Amino acid sequence: MPSRLKRNQACGQLSIADVEREVTVAGWVHVRRDLGGLIFIELRDQTGRIQLAADPNRNKEVHQELSTLKNEYVLIARGKVTARPAGSENRETPTGLVEIYPDAVEILNTAKPLPFNLDQGDAVNEELRLKYRYLDLRRPEMNNNLRLRHRVTQAIRRSLDDNGFTEVETPILTKATPEGARDFLVPSRLNPGNFYALPQSPQLFKQTLMISGIDRYYQVARCFRDEDLRADRQPEFTQIDIELSFTDEEEVMGVTENLLTAAFSAIDVELKPPFARLPYKEAMERFGNDKPDLRFDMEIKDMTEVAKTCNFKVFRECADAGGVLKGLCIKGAAEKDPVSRKTLDIWQEAAKKDGAKGLAWVIFAKEGTRSSGIDKHLTPEEMDKLKSLSGAQTGDVLLLVSDKFALTVNVLGRMRLRIAEERGLIDESRHELLWVVDFPLFEYDEKEGRMMAVHHPFTSPNLEDVQHLESDPGRIRARAYDIVYNGVEIGGGSIRIHDQELQTRAFQAIGIDRDQARDKFGFLLDALESGAPPHGGLALGLDRIIMLLAGCKSIRDVIAFPKTQSGGCLMTQAPSAASEEQLNEIHIVTKPANPGRKENAKEDQIASAVQ
Ligand code: AMO
Repeated sequence: MPSRLKRNQACGQLSIADVEREVTVAGWVHVRRDLGGLIFIELRDQTGRIQLAADPNRNKEVHQELSTLKNEYVLIARGKVTARPAGSENRETPTGLVEIYPDAVEILNTAKPLPFNLDQGDAVNEELRLKYRYLDLRRPEMNNNLRLRHRVTQAIRRSLDDNGFTEVETPILTKATPEGARDFLVPSRLNPGNFYALPQSPQLFKQTLMISGIDRYYQVARCFRDEDLRADRQPEFTQIDIELSFTDEEEVMGVTENLLTAAFSAIDVELKPPFARLPYKEAMERFGNDKPDLRFDMEIKDMTEVAKTCNFKVFRECADAGGVLKGLCIKGAAEKDPVSRKTLDIWQEAAKKDGAKGLAWVIFAKEGTRSSGIDKHLTPEEMDKLKSLSGAQTGDVLLLVSDKFALTVNVLGRMRLRIAEERGLIDESRHELLWVVDFPLFEYDEKEGRMMAVHHPFTSPNLEDVQHLESDPGRIRARAYDIVYNGVEIGGGSIRIHDQELQTRAFQAIGIDRDQARDKFGFLLDALESGAPPHGGLALGLDRIIMLLAGCKSIRDVIAFPKTQSGGCLMTQAPSAASEEQLNEIHIVTKPANPGRKENAKEDQIASAVQ
């Protein structure tokens, strides 16, 4: 039966200015309180809550109806807004000054007792929240995350629209695009034995669109990658994907800075582009990381010159073999909240786990200098030199690692983040965005035993370096740029190769010969030969951006229906077995299931849901 009443007012938008207005509100019963005859209901909708009250002496019928309500029943109520009596106001919210004594109510639906209390929020097991996602999303925090996502996406769309971009949809059923992860495959019923791949990104389509003369493309694009999941990764995620013709690095970065400024304004944060630009090499040297968190200092300092001339065997031999000596100075750590021996031991273990042979330390205390033993092997002058090169002063603690460059900065980079976290050095109110540029084009992959593209094989080499493509590909810089926000890579892109011959050479450098290139990317090579304009672009990870803007620890909290760590959806129970008939139709024969495997997979899924 259709309801007699029609909603005309949002619960959370009532205030003292509405007193005497007759309104009809609808929502969920958040809580019911019975107080000696009076009944109070907090009615909740997407905008907030309003108190409804019933007094048997004023309206027996309404009182009777409200007395049957349970949590999460769906209710519509009409009545006059009144000011709450003095002493019963809740001054924390605008609706806390008013209430409604309804003259008509209607229960639109009932609800079973819920599997968890919505007010307990984050304390509830995540697997329970994921299983009953529709309830989890009713919680205002979660509901607001989705709304923030909408606002940010809209701001980005507006910015792109203002800058002359056209939104184009590209296929979901497609051919594999190499982005470095495993593909999700979809069997083709009409082409037995053949498979579509779900796109890891629209990379090749957007390049093709430039060749088609679209000029400026964007898409809020769903991407699929079958990779090991972490708190900031999902097997399906969303990119803000853009591509421009007749462009260069500066223009792509400028457009991106504009759209990020628009996105951040959705949380009232004013960004001030242009953002800092840091060459990859410098990022590694100073922060040991290609996505440095700039909300705190503590940069890595080089002390190799001491190692080169000292008589301490460990440092000297390493330096003689081309290694380095580098360190981190922790300001004030010898005085305020002094670092304990136990903590130093734990850090040493962590450094070893990361591959270092050890972690030396020096405490420059007022009472004198103590160290992990290195002062026995170094002269006082050498100890002084370490102090001055590291920028340490009395009261500071210095940590040192000596090894090959890559390992040393990696260990110290991780240590830097760990210490900042442990000692509360991160200023959470800061929004630090920067571009990391001049990445290497290729790097050697030990596992694959060959050179691989650092970004993807369509990235243009720095034109000054092209001459080394065959002779020394490892030294070529890429025309690539990553955008980093508070230590998280939120996007990346590059200027592309638009010349067929250069693209073929780039493929060859990573072991894809002419025939293989034709087989895999023939359409791209043909397209490049048919008047491809110079072009470039970038993709931002929308989910990561929203996660950071919302202040969430997990990407799952900003995705309506996310997957668990093992790729499952606990609400729909996907993935699930297919029937014999479905498998026949798509010409698939499955291997006999490993007994117990399914069960284990489900258990793993539950266990890892919250990791
Ligand atoms: P890339 O692979 O760097 O570039 O991806 C761009 C951004 O997408 C986000 N991202 C993810 N977010 C959630 N879950 C994942 N599994 C995941 N993987 C990536 C990151 C990342 O910075 N085609 C190129 C872009 C280009 O060159 O234009 C690309 O996809 O925030």
